[in-house]
Amino acid sequence: MNVTTVTDGIFRLSANMKDILFEGLWPIPNGIAMNSYIVKGGNKTAIVDGVCGWDGVPETLFEQFKQINIDPESIDYVIVNHMEPDHCGWIENFRKIRPNFTVVTSKKAIPLMKGFFDIDESSIMPVGDGDTLDLGDGRVLAFAEIPNVHWPETIATFDTKSGTLMPCDAFGSFGAIDDAPYDDQLTQEQIDFFEREATRYYANIVAAFSQPVLQAIKKASPLPIKIIAPGHGIVWRKDPMKIVKDFVRYANYQKGPCENEVTVIWGSMYGNTELGVKPAIEALEAEGVKVRVHRVPEDSWGDILTSAWSSTGLVLAMPTYEYKMFPPMYAVLDEMCKKKFLNRKVFRFGSYGWSGGAQKELDELMARHKPGWEFVEPVEFMGTPREKDFAAIRKGCTELAQRVKKAVASKS
Ligand code: FEO
Repeated sequence: MNVTTVTDGIFRLSANMKDILFEGLWPIPNGIAMNSYIVKGGNKTAIVDGVCGWDGVPETLFEQFKQINIDPESIDYVIVNHMEPDHCGWIENFRKIRPNFTVVTSKKAIPLMKGFFDIDESSIMPVGDGDTLDLGDGRVLAFAEIPNVHWPETIATFDTKSGTLMPCDAFGSFGAIDDAPYDDQLTQEQIDFFEREATRYYANIVAAFSQPVLQAIKKASPLPIKIIAPGHGIVWRKDPMKIVKDFVRYANYQKGPCENEVTVIWGSMYGNTELGVKPAIEALEAEGVKVRVHRVPEDSWGDILTSAWSSTGLVLAMPTYEYKMFPPMYAVLDEMCKKKFLNRKVFRFGSYGWSGGAQKELDELMARHKPGWEFVEPVEFMGTPREKDFAAIRKGCTELAQRVKKAVASKS
């Protein structure tokens, strides 16, 4: 765990998590930083979100807090912005060494506090829009409800003294952090790295909640924000509006049109569908669109969704398998639909043997989720593709690329 000063009276405690599947599901090849914040007022001290990565051994926490002159037993308030256990799971250990503290959280979190930790209402100070908490010496925290960023109970905490917004999952990113957790300490190359990690984080974790993200940003816009200190990733002191603008862009990718990009997702059983992939990529690139390529099941869902989130177009290349879609393709598309990847332009091609069926299941998936995807006429071939099939694949990709370009042009 690493302790640094965000600004006068606010400290960031952070630990990196690596070699895990985040939420038990998402690969994080570059890890993730988990952040908590200690906010010290004149007579009261609060901790905002939990010290994730803390090993639960009291001496470790005492040692870390010693660095910032704080006795853990002096912490009066535990502010739980969000009940997902990556931020609040530490409470279980903390109360072993500090049994008496007040939990400050939203009304909606009260039943979850009971369910996760058996903490009842008598230990909770519920807060919502417009509520404040005075820590003394001019340090007043204000709260705002930001439901579904990322769970329904989520709130954001704003330190009115320093202009520091602590919004938990909002404005976060993947990517472990070593010595430099602040944007003013990073090179442009490092900022670019965290932008890629923020895109991955957004596409994998936040995507489904894009409309609540836009509502939360609108709600926060009148605040005099000087620093953004999220629950994951780097702290924005030099240019906090950069991550706000990035999140607006990511959120707007949900409904599209997105970038001038096509993500090709392909899977193949015996190499027949695979034969069409290269001509497809060539035809797309000839139209000047950026092409991202992923194979299923080899590539991770996390990578595929990250590419597809910013792509206006998709190419789905898969064979029929047991009268249905190639199963790993179905799994990825189902997840994309659940996360509301809306209004994409799509072209599909693939091989079949005794029978087709992939298209029927794809049609059923679209009818169930209604993501508003617009399809170019698909191309199917029995066994291996012939020259006429390659020509049809090229034609389908050319048409797709032209629709993508037209859609992207229409938004500017
Ligand atoms: Fe980082 Fe929704 O928890």
